[in-house]
Amino acid sequence: MKLICKGAEANLYLDFWFGFKVVKKIRISKPYRIPELDEYLRSYRTFNEARLLSSARRVGVSTPIVLDVNPSSYTLTMEYIEGVLLRDYMLKADEKILKKHFIKVGEMIGVLHSNGIYHGDLTTSNMFIVNDNVYLIDFGLGGFSREVEAFGVDLHLMRRTLESTHHDLAEQCFSYVVEGYSSSFEDWRRVLKKVEEIRRRGRYVEERRLRK
Ligand SMILES: Nc1ncnc2c1ncn2[C@@H]1O[C@H](COP(=O)(O)OP(=O)(O)O)[C@@H](O)[C@H]1O
Ligand SMILES: [Mg+2]
Repeated sequence: MKLICKGAEANLYLDFWFGFKVVKKIRISKPYRIPELDEYLRSYRTFNEARLLSSARRVGVSTPIVLDVNPSSYTLTMEYIEGVLLRDYMLKADEKILKKHFIKVGEMIGVLHSNGIYHGDLTTSNMFIVNDNVYLIDFGLGGFSREVEAFGVDLHLMRRTLESTHHDLAEQCFSYVVEGYSSSFEDWRRVLKKVEEIRRRGRYVEERRLRK
């Protein structure tokens, strides 16, 4: 197996499965966690990621097909996606193409939310561009909810990543996300209000930290 990525909490390997290119995501131990919690989190997130990848796919959001999941060895085997991470894609794409992709990203988030699924880690490193389509990965921190708060946090994180990694494009790209989102999720207005509230809360905390 060839190591393709050493992530924050998992190693990802390229492997072959009956002639198919697959990715094995193996969650690694974190020495700073107490062992019981460490094992629990690694197996929970492995199983959780598998069930959310499948649920998202079932409601029409593109995700890698889950081929196998083994929480006791913290291993998830999924289809290998041949594409470019949105993070890298943004460095060279022109505005018209970005617009198309970010509207699509917004639509996908809206579809997830209308089906009671939140992603938990919406960053441009967790999105693949494959031709005209966008694939979502890395659902380990996601879950099922109908709470506006969970959806607001999703969009807030998306905005924060854009601001910290692609500052000059952030505002424009986030407005495209909102455009797509509002076309696929009825309750989009309430969620956007929440996003503003979360942002104010964050600012308040940051300002207090600075004053201390
Ligand atoms: N199904 C896949 N096909 C191809 N590459 C993948 C796949 N899943 C993950 N990767 C690569 O591995 C990286 C880390 O995977 P990810 O699931 O996001 O783990 P982490 O929790 O470490 O962020 C991704 O950014 C991507 O480059
Ligand atoms: Mg990731």
